[in-house]
Amino acid sequence: MRFSSLFVAPVLSIAPLLVLATADTGDIHGPICSWHLDPTTTMTIQWVEKAHTTIPQERWWEAVSGFGYGDDDDTTVLDMQDKYQRLYIRTEFEGKDLPTVAQIDPTGAWTAKAQIDKAEYEFNVRFDFKEGNLSGDITQLGGQPKAFEGGYIGGETVHFQSTYTLLTKEYTIEIAAKRKDEVTLEGEWRALNKEGEEKAKDKVVFTKIETEEEKKKREAMTDEEKKKAEEERKKEAAKVADPDKFQIQLRVRYDDGFIAYLNGEEIQRAGIGSGRGKDAKDIANHDADKEETFTIDKKFNRLLKPGKNILAFEGHNRSIDSSDFTLDPKLWVKVDKKEHKYLDGKNKWQFFLGEPAANWTTSEIRSKPLPTATSGVEPYELRFGKRGAPVSLPHRAVSEVLEFADTRNVIHRVILKGLEPDTGYAFEISEPNSTRRLKGKKFFFKTAPTRLGDGVTFVTGGDMYHKRDLLDAMNREAAEHNPLFALLGGDLAYANGKDAHLWYDWIDSWHDWCETSGDYMIPMIVAIGNHECSKQIDSVKEEDLKDFKPEEHAKFFYSLFPLPEGKSSYAVDFADYMSIICLDSNHTQRPEDQVPWLKAALRDRSKMPNLFTCYHRPTFGTLVKDDEKEVREHFVPLFDQYGVDAAFENDHHLYKRTMPIKGGEIHKDGTIYIGDGSWGVNLRDVPWEKTNKLDYLVRAAKENHLIRVQVLPDRQQYDAFNGSGTRLDSYARFR
Ligand SMILES: [Fe+2]
Ligand SMILES: [Fe+2]
Repeated sequence: MRFSSLFVAPVLSIAPLLVLATADTGDIHGPICSWHLDPTTTMTIQWVEKAHTTIPQERWWEAVSGFGYGDDDDTTVLDMQDKYQRLYIRTEFEGKDLPTVAQIDPTGAWTAKAQIDKAEYEFNVRFDFKEGNLSGDITQLGGQPKAFEGGYIGGETVHFQSTYTLLTKEYTIEIAAKRKDEVTLEGEWRALNKEGEEKAKDKVVFTKIETEEEKKKREAMTDEEKKKAEEERKKEAAKVADPDKFQIQLRVRYDDGFIAYLNGEEIQRAGIGSGRGKDAKDIANHDADKEETFTIDKKFNRLLKPGKNILAFEGHNRSIDSSDFTLDPKLWVKVDKKEHKYLDGKNKWQFFLGEPAANWTTSEIRSKPLPTATSGVEPYELRFGKRGAPVSLPHRAVSEVLEFADTRNVIHRVILKGLEPDTGYAFEISEPNSTRRLKGKKFFFKTAPTRLGDGVTFVTGGDMYHKRDLLDAMNREAAEHNPLFALLGGDLAYANGKDAHLWYDWIDSWHDWCETSGDYMIPMIVAIGNHECSKQIDSVKEEDLKDFKPEEHAKFFYSLFPLPEGKSSYAVDFADYMSIICLDSNHTQRPEDQVPWLKAALRDRSKMPNLFTCYHRPTFGTLVKDDEKEVREHFVPLFDQYGVDAAFENDHHLYKRTMPIKGGEIHKDGTIYIGDGSWGVNLRDVPWEKTNKLDYLVRAAKENHLIRVQVLPDRQQYDAFNGSGTRLDSYARFR
């Protein structure tokens, strides 16, 4: 529950179903531009719009958890600030693979003997068990019947409690008794004082009070009949989960408080003093920094059923104008040592803004799927033309409106084709139905030349964003070299497929700093790294490979970048003078699976005078981490065969350059391996005792850096620079 100044966007009515705000500059990240098609004739321009979705109240909607606003970590972003202090959510789940038990029905009268302070007491109990609810009363010998409180049946055990004043002190007597046979319940009672401390406990045995007739009937039963009755009882009771054999856990990220209900009964609250719904009081100040685990009191285990269950939450904000809100629950049930992750995040929940009907935690409820983030979002208009032409910006394009993974934010993408090579272009973006220019300015980009001419310059590096100041400094340094483009080798935003807000920072930094001295935006060509992924393919078992979905496990990378054929390996050709091949070093594609494509791609380009590859994990590294063996096994022989000039490697968070290597040996016609990814990350120490033994390694340094590559008619010039512009290394490769 942080308070910070937050811009509240003006609201424009667009669709009757939902109301969307127009974006202000604070709600737009970008634009940035990239290349994946022919760089001499195309340019992809895109920006992310933060959507503000206002959902009409008084009805149930359906969307994916977690819910909230204000801190960029919510899957379903709701426009609640100043409007709703509470959110109600509920979902059904299947209680699968629960151990079951035959539940008893103790209806009737029982008599018991209990030992208290060496004196024997006798009392009677009468149970009434209807529709899963246990009620009844207790009569001490000579006294009046007194209704007991909090009674329930947990499988084969009946639990109930009663309050007594003994001498002058009040005690709560808790009794739990388990079925031994049809006429016997055996268990324990314990006395707790007002503070909840256990003051006494002992065994207790209940005997059923039968009428003569009942007794006769029971005694007349043959063994066969008894067995059959018992089987019948067990069969019927297989519908009940055995409450002694599992533990319910809620794992919740929340801001500021919640109350959880299982099948209608409250099982947990946090950050809320008293009351429920609009009567909730004393709401704490709590930030949703991390998931918290709540082990649910065992007495609620009886609520969990095999089959359909309903879990419901009310989430509360401390104040209606709070700057953020989060409700992101999971439900795990531990059976023995196994965890059943019934609700493990990203599940569909029904939600309600406003005050739902009283039976919302139990009854069947109909809901509508929440409209997608893009529904109702209008495209932006982009006007463009040659820079400095007499007619300003004569051409028009409209943005394609795409979902930014499951963030409920929107990517606007324009792919301009048919441009002239080696030409500067200007463009402006205007919002729908608005005369305002996005960011109040014109932007410029330049297409690649079709001839090498005097040469082209690009910068490369990876592992970009641990700290914003490091990222900004290096992005600024990249622009200093006026590159035609930047080749970025993975571990870009470090969002791990989870933290979308890191992508917004990363885009903002690129947008702010990466402009050349001629005000040209710097297009990027990107490769994937491990920190783009929530799960990597190298951790997947052979038999599960078919279920691995790259666009799910690296969802931001795959939705943000227009990858040719939706693949993380692709080639970009600069006319007939240079090719860049991006590869996936075991993050969402296995190296061996890329071999047929890579072989064909390199064969087609073997005459290309400047042939480069870029991927994330080094295979000729400094040994600060192990070399990537699968890259060595599957990619390197092809690099050797088709004469790749340089392989840009990353991931190790330091600088390195090798001699040219071919066939595993230093060879003048080999490939140089250069990297190793420390654009804007904390650095690792060079492990000199290991590194010194590598005869092919020329340079290693603990430095943040980028590599400037000048592709010139007579040579390739490689220079590494740190964030203050100091040259760290220089290497020329003549033809
Ligand atoms: Fe990495
Ligand atoms: Fe990294």
